[in-house]
Amino acid sequence: MARTSRFPGFYNVTVAERRALVGDATGASPSDIERALEGGGLDAETADKFVENVLGTYALPYGVALNVRVNGHDHVVPMVIEEPSVVAAASNAAKMVRAGGGFVAEMDPPRMIAQVEVRALTDTGAAAERVRRHAPELLALADRAVPGLVSRGGGARSIEARVLADDIIAVHVVVDCRDAMGANLANAVAEGVADRVAAIAGGRVGLRILSNLCDQRCVRVTCTVPAGALATDDMAGADVIDGIVAASRFAELDPYRAATHNKGIMNGIDAVTMATGNDWRAVEAGAHAFAARSGRYSPLAVWRRKGEDLEGRLEMPLALGTVGGTLRVHPAARLSLRILGVSDAQGLAAIAAAVGLASNLAAVRALATDGIQRGHMGLHARSVALAAGAPSDRIERIASMIVEARDITLEGAKRALGVLVAESGEGATAVEVEE
Ligand code: MEV
Repeated sequence: MARTSRFPGFYNVTVAERRALVGDATGASPSDIERALEGGGLDAETADKFVENVLGTYALPYGVALNVRVNGHDHVVPMVIEEPSVVAAASNAAKMVRAGGGFVAEMDPPRMIAQVEVRALTDTGAAAERVRRHAPELLALADRAVPGLVSRGGGARSIEARVLADDIIAVHVVVDCRDAMGANLANAVAEGVADRVAAIAGGRVGLRILSNLCDQRCVRVTCTVPAGALATDDMAGADVIDGIVAASRFAELDPYRAATHNKGIMNGIDAVTMATGNDWRAVEAGAHAFAARSGRYSPLAVWRRKGEDLEGRLEMPLALGTVGGTLRVHPAARLSLRILGVSDAQGLAAIAAAVGLASNLAAVRALATDGIQRGHMGLHARSVALAAGAPSDRIERIASMIVEARDITLEGAKRALGVLVAESGEGATAVEVEE
């Protein structure tokens, strides 16, 4: 049976009911979900095997983005993030994109770059040429450093040599890492070939390490959104498209705006990266280096009018793995892959990038229409209502009361709670309103 990512009313049901719904749709039972997420999925003893000097663990909310359709398939997408409104905004934007058929994504093969720096050269041009001529030998040597990867169908694919200065070249071994993120594999290759590379070049070995600018592992996602899906209560869809295209232009013209525009994309991508146990610092480093590749920091996603519709396009490097690393030991990361219904690294990157484009669409649409604060404040109001002691069945009502009254404060929420209590005729014992 095809999976669905549509759950109308998901927002309004309890955590237990959400687990049951996601369980039904994805085959992960509510008890699997509960077990994997208990205590953030990680106890102190296991955490002690991850890093050093452990005192405990630090939990973050684990939500799911809905309505996400990528290349014709629905996915419920786990997101780990502390910022309110990101999950809801991605789900809303994914629904708009769905009205235009969903996201279309394509991924490069999972190729990482292992770098060997060679120093103390006298003729860098000739050294680089010698390295290129020895490519077959170096590729075979690189494969010997990662036999397990070679047996899984991956391995070294090409050799590049770049002149960096009068005395330095950088040699790249491009490695197909299959479903691994590939940092350890690339590092093993860099260390495995370094001495021979330096001997061929006639110089001294410098650094040997992967590059996080994995620009041969890019994902490209597009979407077409019909104007009607973008309209707000106050603005026609065609005007919203104009606003979003203008917002894109601002980011294309100004690195100050591009940084914030890209932050909105990374809200989605980092949250999926974290939920799946991947290295979000590596993803961030690659994204921003790629954004600056022309010498001018630019947006990773741009928006254009296409006839009556809006077209979005995102391109960026994205090194995500579905095997090895944290995934081996973190039950919540393994649960995420099960909920997503993906097992391969390319499929995961396509979905994460789609959620990045959805997050960007939500942000630029909000900025082009009501401004960002209205939506943010609505969600903030719920946590204020909670802090004011509102019982769970009254949080939504109190949140809308304080938003309407433009009084999103603890005092405002307490007043609203008092009004509801008085209206329902309950005594102060039924719902305690703390002063
Ligand atoms: C906030 O986390 C992200 C935004 O600032 C992104 C943007 O401005 O495009 C809303």
